[in-house]
Amino acid sequence: MSEQSGIEQQIEQQSEDQQLEEQQVDESGIPAKHHRAIRSFVKRSGRMTPGQQAAYDKYWSVKGLMLADGLINYSDVFGRNAETVLEIGFGMGVSLVQMAKEAPEKDFIGIEVHEPGVGKLLHGMEEHDVENIRVYCDDAVEVLRECIPDNSLDRVQIYFPDPWHKKKHNKRRLIQPDFIENLYPKLKTGGVIHLATDWEHYAEQMMEVMTAAPGFDNQADDYCFSDRPAYRPITKFEKRGERLGHGVWDLLFEKQ
Ligand SMILES: C[S@@+](CC[C@H](N)C(=O)[O-])C[C@H]1O[C@@H](n2cnc3c(N)ncnc32)[C@H](O)[C@@H]1O
Repeated sequence: MSEQSGIEQQIEQQSEDQQLEEQQVDESGIPAKHHRAIRSFVKRSGRMTPGQQAAYDKYWSVKGLMLADGLINYSDVFGRNAETVLEIGFGMGVSLVQMAKEAPEKDFIGIEVHEPGVGKLLHGMEEHDVENIRVYCDDAVEVLRECIPDNSLDRVQIYFPDPWHKKKHNKRRLIQPDFIENLYPKLKTGGVIHLATDWEHYAEQMMEVMTAAPGFDNQADDYCFSDRPAYRPITKFEKRGERLGHGVWDLLFEKQ
């Protein structure tokens, strides 16, 4: 993900358009930017393939979760009590489906704003006969605030979040002190935040934010990155990155 793809260029362009809009002033003289929070994503265009759409139409009503439904009751949603893993920004969901398939004893909640990714995830669940995932198609910041009970998560995983390479866009990065402060109460004691990135500057930012966040222990030594745990599959981007000699950094921090 270090090389800028067409999609990233499109996102950057939309982001610049949004920045211009944010610089505009409304009729009361208040800059428009004060009316909304900075978000970690810009909605990508792109439609679902027919297969993704068919899976969405068939499964959204049973596997989809809605912000409007408010706080989740896990035993109602999954029909059992199990360890719960939350993945934020699962992209097309390929690794989430694989992880859920390999850990049928755990329950997984995925959050992704990109609708075709949600369609692809539902399609993958059908293809691989995976039952233990439920999914939101919303901003994770809002889902955390409105829907995730305190002390309820065993793991939160955020893999290769958008790096927002340009300095002027760094403020859009998801991993910021406020975001981690809001995530903290959602984890159980002993619960883990697992972050991974292939962008060195973002890895350093993640390490600074997590090290400064109160109430967490680095599972590696202080300021050290962790080895990739076996449960995190290597994505195709990572394989390509490896061939190109790029690094990948995993961070595992446990709630005290
Ligand atoms: C660079 S992609 C990585 C996808 C995937 N984790 C992977 O490793 O291939 C980051 C994803 O996070 C999603 N995303 C960014 N901010 C988000 C937010 N606040 N809530 C939900 N999804 C978000 C984007 O739509 C995008 O699909």
